[in-house]
Amino acid sequence: MTFADSPPGSGKPWGGRFEAGADPEAETFTSSLAFDRRLWPYDIRGSAAWARALERAGLINGGERAAIDKGLEAVRAELESGRFAFRRELEDIHMNIERRLTEIAGAVGGKLHTGRSRNDQIALDERLYLRDVLGSLDAALAAAQSALLDQAERHREAAMPGYTHLQRAQPVLLAHHLLAYICMLDRDRDRFAECGRRVNVLPLGSAALAGAAFTIDRAALARDLEFAGPSSNSMDAVADRDYVIEFLAAAAVLGMHCSRLATDLQLWATAEFGFVEFSDTFATGSSIMPQKKNPDVAELIRGKTGRLYGNLVAVLTTMKGLPLTYNSDMQEDKEPLFDTVDTLEAVLRVLPPMLASLTFRVDRMREAAGTFYSTATDLADYLVRKGLPFREAHEIVGRTVRHGIAKGKELGELSLEDLRSFSPLIEKDVHAALTVEASLRARAVTGGTAPEAVARELVQARRRIAKGTQP
Ligand code: ARG
Repeated sequence: MTFADSPPGSGKPWGGRFEAGADPEAETFTSSLAFDRRLWPYDIRGSAAWARALERAGLINGGERAAIDKGLEAVRAELESGRFAFRRELEDIHMNIERRLTEIAGAVGGKLHTGRSRNDQIALDERLYLRDVLGSLDAALAAAQSALLDQAERHREAAMPGYTHLQRAQPVLLAHHLLAYICMLDRDRDRFAECGRRVNVLPLGSAALAGAAFTIDRAALARDLEFAGPSSNSMDAVADRDYVIEFLAAAAVLGMHCSRLATDLQLWATAEFGFVEFSDTFATGSSIMPQKKNPDVAELIRGKTGRLYGNLVAVLTTMKGLPLTYNSDMQEDKEPLFDTVDTLEAVLRVLPPMLASLTFRVDRMREAAGTFYSTATDLADYLVRKGLPFREAHEIVGRTVRHGIAKGKELGELSLEDLRSFSPLIEKDVHAALTVEASLRARAVTGGTAPEAVARELVQARRRIAKGTQP
């Protein structure tokens, strides 16, 4: 960033009230320019729309509006090309743009702030910014879902052990496991879309806190900036940041989901599991152990979740107990907000190609799916189908498993005679009920892991992803 060299403390828009210039340390301390400058495209868009509103209200004429427009375009060109000379003493991006506009367009630039405050201006800029972010975030989430779905479709038949308490529990399809994450991301997209509905409200016209003292047509201004409508209370509009908090909360939940996916993959990539291999392009080696291949892209996706939580807690804490309406504390919302946006962008840029590069060891998964008594529940269900109350069946199968462990045999490896010694209801169709395939097939309920149920969900997921959640 380049700084023009005007002396510190000079040229403040509020200069009239002040005899002394600001202390340079105070000036540096209060400045938000280093981070809020990323809002400049939204600040310019908002200012151009505000100029049109002023013209409609008869506060400036067509020529003045055109001069402001032209000046704003010149400022935009400077910002876009990196030629814009940021002035530290002008505190924030709003005053930097307005001052430069006045230099370029002349005195008419001084009319732009009529009926406007930086308090409604910053709320506007943030909402315009978030609206953009939410749009690209939805597309990025759809891409992550597509990457999961591609892998699920590629492995429609692959069985694996499902876990509870990280102990082998029951066979599931790998596609079912991957679909679980697609469902989580569906809800993340929903949450962001919901947040977007509340972001999409126009605060401009609220001025400092009491509302603009001019006959601004705020409904027309809302249409101009493509908002659903104007805010209905000027104090609320400048005082709250719940839309930022909601966004950060939705981001934290998304991060939590990504962190669990990362851990599943990290575990599956261990020698102990051996269910998946990361491609060389999404792993790193060790500086000392030549044999290592570390899934550190996945680990860092998980690690980034910490800052997503931190950013949420930071803004919640900043806002706690603030008296109405605007307080400078609220300037502290921006760095956490931008950090969360940058973090999500980084995570979602790397996640889809990382998922696409995974090689699943379906043979290892299939083998693990059928061991350590993973179909014990199926034996209990078998006895239930023969009329036994489930609790009794559970007890009988528990004893059967204990017997199997003692003999070093899986349930399916026990002879019919052996099995019948635990219940006379067991017949020769029992072995067929104890296979991984039978176990999967049995779970044909909606949302279950049976191949045909999963196939239906794969089709539905493909439709949902394409349709998206944005209005
Ligand atoms: N930089 C400020 C912020 O980020 C803009 C609003 C400043 N308003 C004020 N009265 N100081 O919140």
